[in-house]
Amino acid sequence: MSNKFPKNFLWGGAIAANQAEGAYLEGGKGLSIVDLLPTGPNRRAIMKGNVPAFTPLKEEFYPSHEAIDFYNRYKEDVALFAEMGFKVLRVSIAWARIFPTGEAETPNEEGLAFYDNLFDELLKYGIQPVVTLAHFDVPVNLVEKYGGWRSRKLVNLFEKYATTVFTRYKDKVKYWMTFNEINMLLHLPFLGAGLVFKEGENQKQIQYQAAHHQLVASALAVKAAHEIIPDVKIGCMLAAGTFYPFTCNPDDVFQAMEKDRESFFFIDVQSRGEYPAYAKRFFKENGITIEQEPEDKEILKNHTVDYIGFSYYSSRTTSTDPEVTKNMTSGNVFGSISNPYVSKSEWGWTIDPKGFRITANQLYDRYQKPLFVVENGLGAVDELNADGEINDDYRIDYLKEHIAEMAEAIEDGVEIIGYTSWGPIDIVSASTGEMKKRYGYIYVDRDNEGNGSSNRVKKKSFNWYKSVIESNGEDLDN
Ligand code: BG6
Repeated sequence: MSNKFPKNFLWGGAIAANQAEGAYLEGGKGLSIVDLLPTGPNRRAIMKGNVPAFTPLKEEFYPSHEAIDFYNRYKEDVALFAEMGFKVLRVSIAWARIFPTGEAETPNEEGLAFYDNLFDELLKYGIQPVVTLAHFDVPVNLVEKYGGWRSRKLVNLFEKYATTVFTRYKDKVKYWMTFNEINMLLHLPFLGAGLVFKEGENQKQIQYQAAHHQLVASALAVKAAHEIIPDVKIGCMLAAGTFYPFTCNPDDVFQAMEKDRESFFFIDVQSRGEYPAYAKRFFKENGITIEQEPEDKEILKNHTVDYIGFSYYSSRTTSTDPEVTKNMTSGNVFGSISNPYVSKSEWGWTIDPKGFRITANQLYDRYQKPLFVVENGLGAVDELNADGEINDDYRIDYLKEHIAEMAEAIEDGVEIIGYTSWGPIDIVSASTGEMKKRYGYIYVDRDNEGNGSSNRVKKKSFNWYKSVIESNGEDLDN
């Protein structure tokens, strides 16, 4: 099999502000929602919207507060990315660095300067920044005051934030994305949209209203980007992974289609510019009424995205048979039945390279817009051997098989413009808050409790990925 990638294929890696930067109150930054997520047993409930307090609690450990200190060490890290030959680095801007409370008149200059310096450092090595406006990121003040994205208020505040950063970085950043894994708000509503629920509320109603606000805000950001930045490409971002029916029972097949639509719903709006037909019945049957402003329809219609960004870690499997659904596996937050034909990671996430090709084909068939793979990778435990080396062959195998399937998808005719593997340097895990769940080519000496020097060590996969990029994806077996 020969892997053919387009000449200007955008190879690189992806991180998020809240999982890498640390310095959670430095440089005038305000508190972000992720700063309220501890490691340990309480994390999941908070991500779902049961938030005990709007300030960090003494008895908890919050991994985002220091993370891997990318805020202070980014020069060293960018030099390592450059050594691997990155063409792009996907980062996110922390909204609360730019507008600490989310609603001040003027932006925080120190926050703006940080990203200026970061982008300059990347550009110095010829690495293009790819920037996500909101990667699980809402200033806590907006949650306390307005209830996060349940409030229409956030649409204009977000638009202002987007316009501010577009204007400031218009000569430095040409690739943008609006909301990371926008469909996540259905599964982890506090993480995805700063939603906190009161007892007895119709949560679905609130989630879809918040979704509407994000969709309008996303379209307004697309509009602003197109007006402000010459040659801009701005995309959406989906937590993707096709649902397989467990059997060919039409009930299973239909359920798989519905599960896929639950996620496609968002991209259908962002890419096609209107609510899909199937949403009407879904809203009716779930007692959901979306409040819209008269101009919303036009905003959504006229400002669709330029490309479809997506993450792919796993395929998912679903069944209508209660006997079969006893056998569930984790796999991000998307519940999935254990698929007997493929393997799993140490965290129970399905490993299915061919599912990557299937997912890419499905997205391209549906939207016929360029795709950008902005996350993919294996979270695993890495051990240093006696010589202080990390031989992460399991990670190389995972990536090799996925990149090979991506090449197949391109051969199938799918237009893919780039690939940024997740966490090219070890960062805090979003789902568990652990450091132990590592994705990087670069090891960071830091444990789950925050102990360690935070020194960076190249893993075996570092040189492997370097050769992959050097050969434009031809050489996966180096
Ligand atoms: C995606 C997120 O869901 O998956 C990332 O966009 C996240 O923020 C990544 O880190 C991997 O998940 P985890 O839980 O292993 O860090």
